[in-house]
Amino acid sequence: MSKNSYLEQMFSLKDKVVMFTGAGGGIGSEVALGMAKAGAHVALCDINMEQLNKVQKRIEDENGKASSFLLDVTNMENIRKCVDEVAGINGRIDVLVNCAGINKREGLADVDEATYDRIMNVNLKGVFFTSQAVAHYMKKQNAGSIINIGSHNTGWVLGGCSVYGATKSGVVSLTKSMSVEWAKYNIRANCVSPGHIKTDLTKVTWEHPERSKYLLERIALNRPGYPEDIVGVCLLLASDASSYITGCEYRVDGGCISGGQPWPYDTNF
Ligand SMILES: NC(=O)c1ccc[n+]([C@@H]2O[C@H](COP(=O)([O-])OP(=O)(O)OC[C@H]3O[C@@H](n4cnc5c(N)ncnc54)[C@H](O)[C@@H]3O)[C@@H](O)[C@H]2O)c1
Repeated sequence: MSKNSYLEQMFSLKDKVVMFTGAGGGIGSEVALGMAKAGAHVALCDINMEQLNKVQKRIEDENGKASSFLLDVTNMENIRKCVDEVAGINGRIDVLVNCAGINKREGLADVDEATYDRIMNVNLKGVFFTSQAVAHYMKKQNAGSIINIGSHNTGWVLGGCSVYGATKSGVVSLTKSMSVEWAKYNIRANCVSPGHIKTDLTKVTWEHPERSKYLLERIALNRPGYPEDIVGVCLLLASDASSYITGCEYRVDGGCISGGQPWPYDTNF
């Protein structure tokens, strides 16, 4: 067997149907493009249709297969309709990537109920009920892989991200529940927790002179992450190469959690 066909057999997503929430965003769009390049048909879902149209065009320009669906993950009726539509058109859903996410950075004492509910509803409730609706189809197929996008904040908390961090820690816990309860249907669930990735979500941080300096000091690789950096691990988790991997959290953080930039240790003490 040639090297290429071996790799293809391991990692190819040929003819797999992958549904994305948050597909219009920085990370979602890049991972969707990567999976389309690996042969998947990607069903792009987001609350922002204008953005989806651009992402779909970018994928089609690269000869990938994509379709777009308007989805608000906080709306139960909308979730059910959208999942039924994606499964109905494609006949199945092999992989779900829960990527929709929002944040508002403010101190614990300042968060009001509306903000709390909004972040919880998108980041945690949305993941819960979108996965539940998709699992309905995966159970019938007796196969599926769910990839939940977590965050750096599940392990190393930034100030002003209390609600966001709680939702993402909830996503890790939920991932483990899915891996345990749905294993009997051959559904795997894993979480990918990005570090500090340059997207619209983190623009305010990377464009802030003090915050960006603070972050760089805490990244061992000494550079921001880019959406392209998240693609590889998602390809692994979507493909058959990860057939025995479930219930795990993968950090893609350039060495943040491991300690970031070393302190000046080159001394005689
Ligand atoms: N950028 C980072 O550094 C970083 C770090 C850790 C985790 N994450 C996570 O990665 C994911 C993607 O983030 P990103 O950086 O690409 O952000 P982004 O803002 O570029 O993308 C988020 C997408 O989610 C969509 N969305 C928001 N509310 C929605 C809703 N109710 N229904 C459907 N879609 C909705 C937005 O329209 C947007 O397209 C998020 O879950 C985020 O929490 C990002």
